[in-house]
Formats: sequence, structure tokens, C-alpha cells
Amino acid sequence: VTYLSPIIGALVAAIALLTLLVLIWMAWKLRARFLHLDGQLAALSAEFRKMIDNRVVDRIAEVSVEVQNASALRQLDFKSPLFLGGWSIDSFLGRTIFDSVLVDRPNCIVELGSGSSTLLIARCLSLIGHGDAEHIAVDHEETYLEQTRSYLALNGLEQHVKLWLCPLSRDDVTGKLWYSGLTQRLEGHKIDLLLIDGPPGTTQEDSRYPALPVLMPFLSDRCTIMLDDARRPAERSIVEQWAAKFPDFDVRFLRDGHGVAILRRRAGRH
Ligand SMILES: C[S@@+](CC[C@H](N)C(=O)[O-])C[C@H]1O[C@@H](n2cnc3c(N)ncnc32)[C@H](O)[C@@H]1O
Repeated sequence: VTYLSPIIGALVAAIALLTLLVLIWMAWKLRARFLHLDGQLAALSAEFRKMIDNRVVDRIAEVSVEVQNASALRQLDFKSPLFLGGWSIDSFLGRTIFDSVLVDRPNCIVELGSGSSTLLIARCLSLIGHGDAEHIAVDHEETYLEQTRSYLALNGLEQHVKLWLCPLSRDDVTGKLWYSGLTQRLEGHKIDLLLIDGPPGTTQEDSRYPALPVLMPFLSDRCTIMLDDARRPAERSIVEQWAAKFPDFDVRFLRDGHGVAILRRRAGRH
């Protein structure tokens, strides 16, 4: 035993040293791993911050243009407030409508969903001296139709707009709720500008889908169709269904604000 004890001692010391070395090596590896993770985390958070910053910058730019559009539209000299956004069209669509009325000079305009859009269109038509154009605003709710009538009256425009009350009822062809009596009343009309901002999205699934299939026989060859709220998944799905059913229409999306899908017949197809 006396003879073995220095060997055992040396062995224990060697094992202790080895253990220490292994521990040091593991600590070193762990440190390197943490440093690597630290770097990755810093890079990730920088990228995330940039992403958020870009979104905020984009949103600020969008809001700034929205406000500029709204204030430009006020120059149409309304004698009442022109509320934009929320339930009404936003100022991006307001500008798009103004340009379309000015440039395309539609002779027959039909709006589904009355309100600020009605006032804006009526004012544009009177401003450009195209007051003889037929302008029809359709609503399923008497309250909102009467509200629109009051705003038009405040601006002396009520004589130029036909306000049609068409309560919703089940449409036989699409199986969806749709403006009752509308097609009968449209008999003999050819629509040059169709603004689809109703019925509300909450009415049913793909609420505004019937607009194109039901009104197709009443669209003129040069008709422009504007579908509001095109950033919503339901409206995108509606546009996809329309594109599959009516391939001779070109679709353009304007992404700002509520978003709008603009459809026109492809050149040479009429
Ligand atoms: C999207 S709104 C149409 C807005 C209209 N184009 C405008 O620019 O003001 C669609 C329908 O919702 C209804 N509506 C309007 N304002 C509403 C409100 N504040 N709450 C609930 N329904 C409303 C009306 O019947 C209207 O026809």
C-alpha cells in the first residue's frame, strides 16, 4: 500500500487536472456559443427594427398623402362636411373618382352604397359642366339614403341625383342578398362608371360578389368598375371570382387606404 500510494496520488492528481482541463474547454466552447448567439440576436433585432421602421415610415407617408388628398378635395367648395374614411370612401378613392369623372366623362354613373361618394360625384359633375350625366345612387337603407339626400340638398345638388331605395332580398342567380328591383329599374341603361361600395361587407360572405354577374348586361363597352375596400380578403376573393368568370376584364389594384380594384374591358374586346 505504501508503495502504491504515490501512484494513486499521481493518478488522482492527473484525473483532477484532466477534469479541470475538460471543464475549461467546455466553458470556452460555451462562451464562444453565447458570443455567436449574441451576434445573431443583435442582427435579428436590427433587422426587425428596420422592418418596423419601414412600416411606420410607409404608414406615415400614406397618411400624409391621405390628408393632402382630403384637403385638395375640399377645394371642390362643399357647403357641408365631406366625411372621408371609415364607412365612407377614403380620399384615395375620392381622388380616383374625381380623375375618372373628369377624364372619362361618364354619361351614366351608378353607385352601390350612397354617402360621401354621392356628394363628391355630384359636385364633380356640376363643376365640369357635365350635369346632364345620369347619376344614380342606390342604397338598401332608407336612413342613409335620406342622409345623403340632406347633404346633397345643402349643396344644391339634389336635383341632379336619382336616389334609389332598393332593400336587400335574395337574388335567384347568385343566391345572395342583393338590391331588390335594381335590374328592373336599370332597364335601358348603359353604365359608364360603376362604383361598388355596398352592400356592407358584414351582410354576408363575399357581399358584393353579385355586382358584376347581375349588372353585366347594363355595363357599357367603356365602363369603369371601381370596387372599394379591395384590401380586404373578401374583396380580393370577389375579384378573383370575377376574373375567372369574366376574363375579358383587366384588373388593377390601388393599394393605398382601403384599397380599390379597378376593372375595365381589355382593349379590342368590345
Ligand atoms: C360602405 S357604405 C357606403 C358609403 C358611401 N359610398 C360613402 O362614400 O359614404 C355601405 C352602406 O353601409 C350603410 N352605412 C353607411 N354608413 C353607415 C354607418 N355609419 N353604419 C352602418 N351602416 C352604414 C349604408 O346603407 C351604405 O349604403
